[in-house]
Amino acid sequence: MEKKKIAVIPGDGIGKEVVPAALKVLEVVSQLNEDLQFDFTEFPWGSEFYLKTGEMMPKDGLETLRDFDAVFLGAVGDPERVPDHISLWGLLIQIRRGFQQTINLRPARYFQGLDSPLKNPNGFDIVVVRENSEGEYSDSGGRIHHGEDEIVIQNAIFTRKRTESVMRYAFQLAEKRRKSVTSATKSNGLVHSMPFWDEVFAEVSEDFTHINTKKIHIDALAAMFVTNPESFDVVVASNLFGDILTDIGGAIMGSIGMAPSANINVTGEYPSMFEPVHGSAPDIAGKNRANPIGQIWTAKMMLDHFGKQALGEEVLQAIENVTKQGCKTPDIGGSCSTTEVTDEICRNLQNLI
Ligand code: NAD
Ligand code: IPM
Ligand code: MN
Repeated sequence: MEKKKIAVIPGDGIGKEVVPAALKVLEVVSQLNEDLQFDFTEFPWGSEFYLKTGEMMPKDGLETLRDFDAVFLGAVGDPERVPDHISLWGLLIQIRRGFQQTINLRPARYFQGLDSPLKNPNGFDIVVVRENSEGEYSDSGGRIHHGEDEIVIQNAIFTRKRTESVMRYAFQLAEKRRKSVTSATKSNGLVHSMPFWDEVFAEVSEDFTHINTKKIHIDALAAMFVTNPESFDVVVASNLFGDILTDIGGAIMGSIGMAPSANINVTGEYPSMFEPVHGSAPDIAGKNRANPIGQIWTAKMMLDHFGKQALGEEVLQAIENVTKQGCKTPDIGGSCSTTEVTDEICRNLQNLI
Protein backbone atom coordinates (compact mmCIF):
# COMPACT_ATOMS: atom_id res chain seq x y z
CA MET A 1 0.00 0.00 0.00
CA GLU A 2 1.29 3.46 -0.92
CA LYS A 3 0.54 6.43 1.29
CA LYS A 4 1.07 9.84 -0.25
CA LYS A 5 1.61 12.79 2.07
CA ILE A 6 -0.13 15.81 0.59
CA ALA A 7 0.21 19.38 1.88
CA VAL A 8 -3.11 21.09 1.25
CA ILE A 9 -3.27 24.89 0.98
CA PRO A 10 -6.83 26.00 0.13
CA GLY A 11 -5.69 29.67 0.15
CA ASP A 12 -8.23 32.39 -0.52
CA GLY A 13 -11.69 32.93 -2.02
CA ILE A 14 -13.05 29.99 -4.00
CA GLY A 15 -9.87 28.03 -3.18
CA LYS A 16 -11.64 27.25 0.11
CA GLU A 17 -14.57 25.74 -1.84
CA VAL A 18 -12.94 23.92 -4.73
CA VAL A 19 -10.12 22.36 -2.71
CA PRO A 20 -12.50 20.48 -0.35
CA ALA A 21 -14.42 19.42 -3.48
CA ALA A 22 -11.31 17.89 -5.06
CA LEU A 23 -10.31 16.24 -1.77
CA LYS A 24 -13.75 14.56 -1.70
CA VAL A 25 -12.99 13.11 -5.14
CA LEU A 26 -9.55 11.94 -4.00
CA GLU A 27 -11.17 10.30 -0.96
CA VAL A 28 -13.37 8.32 -3.35
CA VAL A 29 -10.29 7.35 -5.37
CA SER A 30 -8.60 6.01 -2.24
CA GLN A 31 -11.75 4.25 -0.92
CA LEU A 32 -11.97 2.37 -4.17
CA ASN A 33 -8.21 1.66 -4.37
CA GLU A 34 -6.85 0.40 -1.13
CA ASP A 35 -3.30 0.40 -2.47
CA LEU A 36 -3.31 4.21 -2.82
CA GLN A 37 -4.01 6.20 0.33
CA PHE A 38 -3.58 9.89 1.07
CA ASP A 39 -2.49 11.63 4.20
CA PHE A 40 -3.72 15.23 3.88
CA THR A 41 -2.29 17.99 6.08
CA GLU A 42 -3.99 21.35 5.72
CA PHE A 43 -2.18 24.68 6.08
CA PRO A 44 -4.26 27.84 6.65
CA TRP A 45 -1.84 30.04 4.70
CA GLY A 46 -2.97 32.88 2.50
CA SER A 47 -4.35 36.40 2.82
CA GLU A 48 -6.23 35.85 6.13
CA PHE A 49 -3.02 34.49 7.58
CA TYR A 50 -1.18 37.56 6.24
CA LEU A 51 -3.64 39.96 7.84
CA LYS A 52 -3.09 38.23 11.19
CA THR A 53 0.67 37.64 11.02
CA GLY A 54 2.13 39.93 8.36
CA GLU A 55 3.25 36.91 6.31
CA MET A 56 1.53 34.79 3.68
CA MET A 57 3.17 31.71 5.15
CA PRO A 58 5.57 31.23 8.06
CA LYS A 59 9.26 31.86 7.47
CA ASP A 60 9.98 28.14 7.59
CA GLY A 61 7.01 27.39 5.28
CA LEU A 62 9.15 25.88 2.52
CA GLU A 63 10.99 23.68 5.02
CA THR A 64 7.65 22.46 6.34
CA LEU A 65 6.40 21.61 2.86
CA ARG A 66 9.61 19.95 1.76
CA ASP A 67 8.82 16.56 3.32
CA PHE A 68 5.53 16.16 1.46
CA ASP A 69 5.03 14.14 -1.71
CA ALA A 70 3.08 17.02 -3.28
CA VAL A 71 1.49 20.37 -2.55
CA PHE A 72 -2.18 20.77 -3.48
CA LEU A 73 -3.11 24.43 -3.68
CA GLY A 74 -6.38 26.26 -4.38
CA ALA A 75 -5.80 29.92 -5.19
CA VAL A 76 -4.23 32.92 -3.60
CA GLY A 77 -5.39 36.53 -3.70
CA ASP A 78 -7.60 38.90 -1.78
CA PRO A 79 -7.00 42.03 -3.84
CA GLU A 80 -9.29 44.30 -1.80
CA ARG A 81 -7.26 43.72 1.34
CA VAL A 82 -3.77 42.60 0.29
CA PRO A 83 -1.91 43.90 -2.79
CA ASP A 84 -1.61 41.09 -5.33
CA HIS A 85 2.16 41.28 -5.71
CA ILE A 86 2.51 40.73 -1.94
CA SER A 87 0.09 37.82 -1.71
CA LEU A 88 1.33 36.02 -4.81
CA TRP A 89 5.06 36.52 -4.32
CA GLY A 90 4.62 35.65 -0.63
CA LEU A 91 3.17 32.22 -1.30
CA LEU A 92 2.52 30.84 -4.78
CA ILE A 93 5.57 32.23 -6.56
CA GLN A 94 7.78 31.56 -3.55
CA ILE A 95 6.83 27.87 -3.67
CA ARG A 96 7.26 27.63 -7.45
CA ARG A 97 10.73 29.16 -7.22
CA GLY A 98 11.85 27.71 -3.90
CA PHE A 99 11.00 24.20 -5.07
CA GLN A 100 12.39 24.75 -8.57
CA GLN A 101 9.06 23.93 -10.16
CA THR A 102 10.41 25.07 -13.49
CA ILE A 103 7.80 23.42 -15.69
CA ASN A 104 4.14 24.34 -15.65
CA LEU A 105 1.88 21.92 -17.53
CA ARG A 106 -1.48 23.30 -18.56
CA PRO A 107 -3.76 21.16 -20.73
CA ALA A 108 -6.85 22.40 -22.55
CA ARG A 109 -9.18 20.05 -24.39
CA TYR A 110 -12.73 19.91 -25.52
CA PHE A 111 -15.23 18.13 -23.33
CA GLN A 112 -18.61 16.91 -24.48
CA GLY A 113 -21.40 18.94 -22.94
CA LEU A 114 -19.36 22.09 -22.52
CA ASP A 115 -20.66 25.51 -23.28
CA SER A 116 -17.61 26.62 -25.31
CA PRO A 117 -17.76 30.09 -26.87
CA LEU A 118 -16.24 28.58 -30.04
CA LYS A 119 -18.57 27.96 -32.98
CA ASN A 120 -17.02 24.63 -33.72
CA PRO A 121 -15.15 23.47 -30.64
CA ASN A 122 -14.76 19.80 -31.48
CA GLY A 123 -11.52 18.07 -31.08
CA PHE A 124 -8.91 20.39 -29.67
CA ASP A 125 -6.41 18.83 -27.28
CA ILE A 126 -3.50 21.09 -26.33
CA VAL A 127 -0.87 21.07 -23.60
CA VAL A 128 0.90 24.33 -22.91
CA VAL A 129 4.33 23.80 -21.38
CA ARG A 130 5.05 27.05 -19.63
CA GLU A 131 8.43 28.11 -18.27
CA ASN A 132 7.59 28.64 -14.62
CA SER A 133 10.50 30.16 -12.81
CA GLU A 134 12.01 33.10 -14.66
CA GLY A 135 11.44 35.11 -17.86
CA GLU A 136 9.15 38.09 -17.54
CA TYR A 137 8.38 37.21 -13.89
CA SER A 138 11.35 38.79 -12.24
CA ASP A 139 12.04 40.97 -9.25
CA SER A 140 14.93 42.57 -11.08
CA GLY A 141 14.32 46.22 -11.81
CA GLY A 142 12.83 49.08 -9.90
CA ARG A 143 11.77 52.68 -9.98
CA ILE A 144 14.44 55.06 -11.05
CA HIS A 145 13.97 58.81 -11.17
CA HIS A 146 10.85 60.31 -9.73
CA GLY A 147 8.37 62.99 -10.53
CA GLU A 148 7.73 63.82 -14.16
CA ASP A 149 10.75 61.82 -15.29
CA GLU A 150 9.71 58.75 -13.38
CA ILE A 151 10.95 55.53 -14.98
CA VAL A 152 10.21 51.97 -13.97
CA ILE A 153 12.33 49.08 -15.16
CA GLN A 154 11.06 45.49 -15.14
CA ASN A 155 13.74 43.10 -16.37
CA ALA A 156 13.03 39.76 -17.95
CA ILE A 157 15.62 37.07 -17.31
CA PHE A 158 16.08 34.09 -19.60
CA THR A 159 18.76 31.56 -18.76
CA ARG A 160 19.99 29.06 -21.33
CA LYS A 161 19.60 26.25 -18.79
CA ARG A 162 15.92 26.84 -18.06
CA THR A 163 15.01 27.82 -21.61
CA GLU A 164 16.58 24.68 -22.99
CA SER A 165 15.06 22.54 -20.29
CA VAL A 166 11.47 23.74 -20.88
CA MET A 167 11.90 23.16 -24.60
CA ARG A 168 13.31 19.64 -24.15
CA TYR A 169 10.40 18.87 -21.84
CA ALA A 170 7.97 20.06 -24.51
CA PHE A 171 9.62 17.96 -27.23
CA GLN A 172 9.67 14.86 -25.02
CA LEU A 173 6.01 15.36 -24.24
CA ALA A 174 5.20 15.77 -27.94
CA GLU A 175 6.92 12.43 -28.62
CA LYS A 176 4.22 10.77 -26.50
CA ARG A 177 1.46 12.79 -28.17
CA ARG A 178 0.86 14.01 -31.73
CA LYS A 179 4.47 14.96 -32.42
CA SER A 180 4.14 18.67 -32.87
CA VAL A 181 5.60 21.56 -30.87
CA THR A 182 4.69 25.20 -31.39
CA SER A 183 6.91 27.84 -29.87
CA ALA A 184 5.29 31.07 -28.67
CA THR A 185 7.64 33.85 -29.65
CA LYS A 186 7.67 37.61 -30.07
CA SER A 187 11.03 38.12 -31.70
CA ASN A 188 9.62 40.89 -33.87
CA GLY A 189 9.13 43.16 -30.85
CA LEU A 190 11.43 41.99 -28.09
CA VAL A 191 14.97 42.32 -29.33
CA HIS A 192 16.94 40.36 -26.71
CA SER A 193 14.86 37.70 -25.02
CA MET A 194 12.83 36.35 -27.91
CA PRO A 195 15.55 36.06 -30.58
CA PHE A 196 17.40 34.06 -27.91
CA TRP A 197 14.27 31.99 -27.27
CA ASP A 198 14.01 31.26 -31.02
CA GLU A 199 17.68 30.33 -31.22
CA VAL A 200 17.39 27.80 -28.39
CA PHE A 201 14.19 26.41 -29.90
CA ALA A 202 15.94 25.85 -33.24
CA GLU A 203 18.90 24.18 -31.51
CA VAL A 204 16.78 21.84 -29.40
CA SER A 205 14.59 20.94 -32.36
CA GLU A 206 17.68 19.52 -34.11
CA ASP A 207 17.67 16.71 -31.52
CA PHE A 208 14.03 15.94 -32.35
CA THR A 209 13.92 15.92 -36.14
CA HIS A 210 10.88 13.60 -36.11
CA ILE A 211 8.81 16.27 -34.35
CA ASN A 212 7.04 18.97 -36.37
CA THR A 213 7.84 22.47 -35.26
CA LYS A 214 6.28 25.86 -35.73
CA LYS A 215 7.10 29.20 -34.24
CA ILE A 216 4.29 31.72 -34.02
CA HIS A 217 4.25 35.21 -32.55
CA ILE A 218 2.25 35.26 -29.35
CA ASP A 219 -0.31 37.76 -30.63
CA ALA A 220 -1.16 35.63 -33.67
CA LEU A 221 -1.00 32.47 -31.57
CA ALA A 222 -3.50 33.87 -29.06
CA ALA A 223 -5.89 34.54 -31.94
CA MET A 224 -5.35 31.03 -33.34
CA PHE A 225 -6.25 29.49 -29.97
CA VAL A 226 -9.68 30.94 -30.69
CA THR A 227 -9.92 30.41 -34.44
CA ASN A 228 -8.31 26.96 -34.83
CA PRO A 229 -7.21 25.42 -31.54
CA GLU A 230 -7.34 21.94 -33.05
CA SER A 231 -4.17 22.73 -34.99
CA PHE A 232 -2.03 22.64 -31.82
CA ASP A 233 -0.55 19.77 -29.86
CA VAL A 234 2.21 20.90 -27.47
CA VAL A 235 2.87 24.63 -27.15
CA VAL A 236 5.99 25.85 -25.39
CA ALA A 237 5.89 29.35 -23.95
CA SER A 238 7.71 31.71 -21.66
CA ASN A 239 6.28 32.45 -18.23
CA LEU A 240 4.07 35.43 -19.18
CA PHE A 241 3.05 34.21 -22.64
CA GLY A 242 2.15 30.82 -21.14
CA ASP A 243 0.14 32.51 -18.41
CA ILE A 244 -1.97 34.44 -20.90
CA LEU A 245 -2.37 31.59 -23.39
CA THR A 246 -3.65 29.23 -20.70
CA ASP A 247 -6.47 31.53 -19.62
CA ILE A 248 -7.49 31.47 -23.30
CA GLY A 249 -7.17 27.67 -23.15
CA GLY A 250 -9.61 27.72 -20.23
CA ALA A 251 -11.95 30.14 -21.96
CA ILE A 252 -12.27 27.97 -25.07
CA MET A 253 -13.14 25.03 -22.81
CA GLY A 254 -16.05 27.15 -21.65
CA SER A 255 -14.52 28.74 -18.55
CA ILE A 256 -11.20 29.25 -16.86
CA GLY A 257 -12.86 27.35 -14.00
CA MET A 258 -12.20 24.20 -16.04
CA ALA A 259 -8.45 24.57 -16.46
CA PRO A 260 -5.95 22.55 -14.41
CA SER A 261 -2.22 22.92 -13.92
CA ALA A 262 0.82 21.13 -12.52
CA ASN A 263 4.00 22.86 -11.37
CA ILE A 264 6.66 20.22 -11.82
CA ASN A 265 9.99 19.90 -10.09
CA VAL A 266 11.71 17.79 -12.73
CA THR A 267 14.63 16.62 -10.59
CA GLY A 268 12.37 15.15 -7.90
CA GLU A 269 14.44 16.96 -5.28
CA TYR A 270 11.44 18.97 -4.11
CA PRO A 271 7.69 18.36 -4.14
CA SER A 272 5.70 19.41 -7.19
CA MET A 273 2.61 21.58 -6.73
CA PHE A 274 -0.83 21.15 -8.22
CA GLU A 275 -3.20 24.11 -8.54
CA PRO A 276 -5.80 25.15 -11.10
CA VAL A 277 -5.19 27.93 -13.62
CA HIS A 278 -7.85 30.23 -12.17
CA GLY A 279 -7.55 32.57 -9.22
CA SER A 280 -9.52 33.13 -6.04
CA ALA A 281 -12.49 34.64 -7.95
CA PRO A 282 -13.60 37.08 -5.21
CA ASP A 283 -16.69 37.97 -7.29
CA ILE A 284 -18.24 34.53 -6.74
CA ALA A 285 -16.53 33.39 -3.53
CA GLY A 286 -18.73 32.00 -0.75
CA LYS A 287 -21.70 31.38 -3.03
CA ASN A 288 -21.24 27.66 -3.75
CA ARG A 289 -21.21 28.39 -7.47
CA ALA A 290 -17.51 28.03 -8.32
CA ASN A 291 -16.73 25.41 -10.92
CA PRO A 292 -14.78 22.67 -9.08
CA ILE A 293 -13.65 20.93 -12.29
CA GLY A 294 -10.34 22.83 -12.68
CA GLN A 295 -9.34 21.75 -9.17
CA ILE A 296 -10.60 18.18 -9.65
CA TRP A 297 -8.77 17.85 -12.97
CA THR A 298 -5.72 19.23 -11.14
CA ALA A 299 -6.08 16.30 -8.70
CA LYS A 300 -6.05 14.04 -11.78
CA MET A 301 -2.73 15.60 -12.80
CA MET A 302 -1.40 14.82 -9.33
CA LEU A 303 -2.49 11.18 -9.78
CA ASP A 304 -0.62 11.14 -13.13
CA HIS A 305 2.45 12.53 -11.37
CA PHE A 306 2.28 9.64 -8.89
CA GLY A 307 2.25 7.21 -11.83
CA LYS A 308 -1.48 6.46 -11.45
CA GLN A 309 -2.50 7.46 -14.97
CA ALA A 310 -5.27 4.87 -15.21
CA LEU A 311 -6.97 6.30 -12.11
CA GLY A 312 -6.44 9.79 -13.47
CA GLU A 313 -8.22 8.83 -16.68
CA GLU A 314 -11.19 7.56 -14.62
CA VAL A 315 -11.41 10.92 -12.87
CA LEU A 316 -11.38 12.71 -16.23
CA GLN A 317 -14.02 10.34 -17.57
CA ALA A 318 -16.23 11.02 -14.55
CA ILE A 319 -15.84 14.78 -15.17
CA GLU A 320 -16.82 14.38 -18.81
CA ASN A 321 -19.80 12.15 -17.96
CA VAL A 322 -21.10 14.74 -15.53
CA THR A 323 -20.75 17.67 -17.94
CA LYS A 324 -22.44 15.57 -20.63
CA GLN A 325 -25.34 14.85 -18.25
CA GLY A 326 -25.72 18.63 -17.88
CA CYS A 327 -24.75 18.90 -14.21
CA LYS A 328 -22.70 22.08 -14.57
CA THR A 329 -21.97 25.27 -12.67
CA PRO A 330 -23.24 28.60 -14.09
CA ASP A 331 -19.91 29.56 -15.73
CA ILE A 332 -20.35 26.68 -18.20
CA GLY A 333 -24.04 27.25 -18.73
CA GLY A 334 -25.58 25.15 -15.96
CA SER A 335 -27.42 25.79 -12.73
CA CYS A 336 -25.76 23.26 -10.42
CA SER A 337 -23.79 24.27 -7.34
CA THR A 338 -20.16 23.43 -6.59
CA THR A 339 -21.37 20.75 -4.17
CA GLU A 340 -23.81 19.20 -6.63
CA VAL A 341 -21.22 18.92 -9.40
CA THR A 342 -18.69 17.44 -6.95
CA ASP A 343 -21.13 14.88 -5.55
CA GLU A 344 -22.18 13.91 -9.06
CA ILE A 345 -18.52 13.40 -10.08
CA CYS A 346 -17.96 11.27 -6.95
CA ARG A 347 -21.05 9.16 -7.72
CA ASN A 348 -19.95 8.71 -11.30
CA LEU A 349 -16.47 7.70 -10.25
CA GLN A 350 -17.87 5.08 -7.87
CA ASN A 351 -19.56 3.47 -10.86
CA LEU A 352 -16.46 3.66 -13.04
CA ILE A 353 -13.72 2.29 -10.79
P1 NAD B 1 -9.80 34.78 -11.41
O1 NAD B 1 -9.33 33.58 -12.14
O2 NAD B 1 -9.88 34.65 -9.94
O3 NAD B 1 -11.24 35.20 -11.95
C1 NAD B 1 -11.49 35.67 -13.29
C2 NAD B 1 -12.97 35.43 -13.65
O4 NAD B 1 -13.17 34.02 -13.82
C3 NAD B 1 -13.93 35.87 -12.57
O5 NAD B 1 -15.08 36.38 -13.17
C4 NAD B 1 -14.25 34.58 -11.82
O6 NAD B 1 -15.53 34.55 -11.23
C5 NAD B 1 -14.16 33.53 -12.93
N1 NAD B 1 -13.71 32.24 -12.38
C6 NAD B 1 -12.46 31.90 -11.99
N2 NAD B 1 -12.45 30.66 -11.51
C7 NAD B 1 -13.70 30.20 -11.60
C8 NAD B 1 -14.32 28.97 -11.24
N3 NAD B 1 -13.62 27.95 -10.72
N4 NAD B 1 -15.64 28.83 -11.46
C9 NAD B 1 -16.35 29.82 -12.02
N5 NAD B 1 -15.84 31.01 -12.38
C10 NAD B 1 -14.52 31.19 -12.16
O7 NAD B 1 -8.82 35.96 -11.84
P2 NAD B 1 -8.70 37.45 -11.26
O8 NAD B 1 -10.05 38.01 -10.99
O9 NAD B 1 -7.77 38.13 -12.15
O10 NAD B 1 -7.95 37.27 -9.87
C11 NAD B 1 -8.56 37.23 -8.59
C12 NAD B 1 -7.46 37.03 -7.56
O11 NAD B 1 -6.83 35.75 -7.74
C13 NAD B 1 -6.32 38.04 -7.68
O12 NAD B 1 -5.86 38.30 -6.39
C14 NAD B 1 -5.27 37.33 -8.50
O13 NAD B 1 -3.98 37.80 -8.32
C15 NAD B 1 -5.43 35.92 -7.95
N6 NAD B 1 -4.97 34.84 -8.84
C16 NAD B 1 -4.40 33.78 -8.21
C17 NAD B 1 -4.03 32.67 -8.94
C18 NAD B 1 -3.43 31.50 -8.23
O14 NAD B 1 -3.39 31.47 -7.02
N7 NAD B 1 -2.95 30.51 -8.92
C19 NAD B 1 -4.29 32.63 -10.32
C20 NAD B 1 -4.89 33.74 -10.92
C21 NAD B 1 -5.25 34.85 -10.18
C1 IPM C 1 -1.44 31.71 -12.70
C2 IPM C 1 -1.58 33.06 -12.06
C3 IPM C 1 -0.25 33.52 -11.47
C4 IPM C 1 0.76 33.58 -12.59
C5 IPM C 1 -0.34 34.89 -10.79
C6 IPM C 1 -1.45 34.93 -9.79
C7 IPM C 1 0.97 35.30 -10.21
O1 IPM C 1 -2.10 33.97 -12.96
O2 IPM C 1 -1.03 30.76 -12.01
O3 IPM C 1 -1.77 31.59 -13.87
O4 IPM C 1 0.78 34.54 -13.36
O5 IPM C 1 1.54 32.64 -12.72
MN1 MN D 1 -2.73 33.13 -14.82
